[in-house]
Amino acid sequence: MKNFENKKVVISGGGSGIGKAIIHELYQKGTRDFAVIGRDLDKLKPLQNEFPEARFLLFQGDVSKPDAIHGFVNAISNAWDEVDVLINNAGVVSAGKLESISDEDIVSQININVTGLVLLTKHVLPLLKKSQEAAIINVSSGLGLIGMPFYAPYAATKGGVRLFSEAIRRELKDFPIQVLTVYPTATATPMMASAKMGSMDTPELVAQKTMEGLQTNKIDVILGGDQRLEDVKNNLNHPEEFDKKAATMYNALLERTSNHRSM
Ligand SMILES: NC(=O)c1ccc[n+]([C@@H]2O[C@H](COP(=O)([O-])OP(=O)(O)OC[C@H]3O[C@@H](n4cnc5c(N)ncnc54)[C@H](OP(=O)(O)O)[C@@H]3O)[C@@H](O)[C@H]2O)c1
Repeated sequence: MKNFENKKVVISGGGSGIGKAIIHELYQKGTRDFAVIGRDLDKLKPLQNEFPEARFLLFQGDVSKPDAIHGFVNAISNAWDEVDVLINNAGVVSAGKLESISDEDIVSQININVTGLVLLTKHVLPLLKKSQEAAIINVSSGLGLIGMPFYAPYAATKGGVRLFSEAIRRELKDFPIQVLTVYPTATATPMMASAKMGSMDTPELVAQKTMEGLQTNKIDVILGGDQRLEDVKNNLNHPEEFDKKAATMYNALLERTSNHRSM
């Protein structure tokens, strides 16, 4: 994608963290039209003050609920003829030993992180297909590339996002729609407030790398530096070796994740 002015952007969960940082990047590059869905309208309302020249269509809704998706997309269709960029960013996490994660948290993680993303893509797609230069950005996670202990349901959702992206990219080959998947590592956002983590990426860095990926027509943006790329390769080629590495981190990860919940 080369031009960001006059683009119409749909984003889930744009009221905080990585989503808001991506709005900031796009705004800096001249984008003015944003349709944003989130469950808490109080998180969305400040966007108008922070980005005064933007035109926001703010929609209170839960992406895991088909009725909310239909209402959101109806509101978008009433306001716009087409959509240029869809950013599937909304996500939640509930970590810990599998037996200690509630059934409700498991169902919600899957419904929000995967079902919501697939449904929003499905219903926005007819509007994206009208654009001359479009993109779908799916926010996965490093845990969608390498499964780590105590994030089993979350990893399942983010691995699902990875393969959904790959499949839909191939399905859309005849349309000018770039499909970009972003794999952040630990990033200092509200989602990580309950995780015991030391140094983290900033949401601004994730947003900048996402924009670079968009501008250079990338398929994947993987955060975490060369070490993460090396780990991804090793995990793919020598999973038993990577099991040993994960085992060395077992106790530290258990400690770090036992209260990690952002639902
Ligand atoms: N932070 C990290 O370390 C990290 C690492 C890898 C991947 N990620 C991914 O990055 C994405 C953004 O997360 P973040 O770190 O920026 O955390 P965040 O600040 O908690 O942002 C998540 C956003 O999603 C929205 N959301 C959650 N459930 C929703 C639902 N059912 N319907 C609509 N909106 C919903 C939230 O708003 P409401 O609560 O108002 O609905 C919130 O604005 C997520 O997909 C996350 O999995 C984050």
